[in-house]
Amino acid sequence: MAHGIMLCDQPFLSDLTKVNLLALMAAKVSVMRDLASFESLLALDQTSDFIIAIASLNNRDIATQVGILAGRYCPNTPLFFLGHVTQLPEKSFNIQNPFDQLALVKTLLKVLKWDKEDLKQQRWTDYIPMPLSLLEHIEKAKDDFYWINDHESGPYNLLCKKDDLIQDKISLWKSQKIKAVYVRAENKFQMLASVNAHLLSAMQRALNGSTEDGLEQVQKAAHLVSQITCDPEEFHKLSEEVKFQMVELSKVASDLVCQISHKLPSNLSKLLELYNNSEKDFVQFHSMLTTYMTIQMIHKEIWYSPQMTQKISLFLFFHDIILIPLYIKYPDLPRDEDLLKDYPKFSAKERQLALYHPKITSNMLESIPNLPIGLDQLILQHHGNSRGDCLETELFEGISTLGKVVIVAEKFATILINNKEEITEEVKKKLFEKLESKLGKKSYIKLLEPLRKIPI
Ligand SMILES: [Fe+2]
Ligand SMILES: [Fe+2]
Repeated sequence: MAHGIMLCDQPFLSDLTKVNLLALMAAKVSVMRDLASFESLLALDQTSDFIIAIASLNNRDIATQVGILAGRYCPNTPLFFLGHVTQLPEKSFNIQNPFDQLALVKTLLKVLKWDKEDLKQQRWTDYIPMPLSLLEHIEKAKDDFYWINDHESGPYNLLCKKDDLIQDKISLWKSQKIKAVYVRAENKFQMLASVNAHLLSAMQRALNGSTEDGLEQVQKAAHLVSQITCDPEEFHKLSEEVKFQMVELSKVASDLVCQISHKLPSNLSKLLELYNNSEKDFVQFHSMLTTYMTIQMIHKEIWYSPQMTQKISLFLFFHDIILIPLYIKYPDLPRDEDLLKDYPKFSAKERQLALYHPKITSNMLESIPNLPIGLDQLILQHHGNSRGDCLETELFEGISTLGKVVIVAEKFATILINNKEEITEEVKKKLFEKLESKLGKKSYIKLLEPLRKIPI
């Protein structure tokens, strides 16, 4: 039986990979959650058939480090990265979309040079374990479930019948220390299909918790979505199912931003402490801050509604999503999008992505049916012009009022994030003057009035 080592801090993704590789290749995977334990395992077990690593851990690109460790301990073991890798280590392979498990299996089979005969000869088990985490949102058992006392042999005892309701039972099984239930291997495809379809629900579950946890979960979700969107050409080739899941996940994350907005301190400088005291990423933090300010600015308008709040939040979740991998790759990238055009280290392709991110993102989302109407237009114009670039700083008049409110809020978010001084009345005055000069046009400056009412 083939076995591999996986480095992944996202439990649902590692559970999913484990089940898929066991079911489709009869391969076992040991999962490590951080670099230190991953290194210890590599040092201990140099006989694994493959190594899989998620491309970034805690928002840090770790491909190079993983490449060095793998090269040190297991130089001949093939190495696979899940997600967007900015610099792929030599002789390693990349599966851009971490949820495209079929692509992972296909690549593994190709690299390991396994054909149908090799597959047949693997030690297939009669039963496949399904971790309980993958079943948490499945209402009914899709097949009979079994359990065993001892992990190596049997006997397999019937735990529940096909179509039984399982949600109440899962907590009971957990209290009995049952970590996985077993399904008959011949029904594995049916079971896997339902597990994959419920992946989204598992993510939704992950997106709960306190304000700080919530922000972290939004960041994780944004990170996952950015891996799916970072290559526009690849994005257009994705299946409708993956795109659908991506949008659903984004909706959950942006709804969470709305929920968090209600719990956030109403004082902006307190809010900024959340950013300064942690390693929150700029893209998602300025999006969250802008969402918060925009909602505050328009909440007395007659056109304000809960649906509007969701639309704003979803729009801001997506607006800079393709910049996330760039901010990970270049930690010194300016925390101000107006300065991206002057950044010298971009490759030609990265420069294109950075400078035209409004147009590229809007094109990607244009074809997706289950998004609110007009979201693509808002994204296209979010740098104050209808060309969809961030080259000019002069703002365009012909943009919707909502579009203008967001631009004003976002510019102020950027100014606040970059401000290093303690916010006194005097500093506040200076910050607003800076914003006013950046806005230039009357129709935008007018919108400073509701912004000034938000306590700092
Ligand atoms: Fe932005
Ligand atoms: Fe932007």
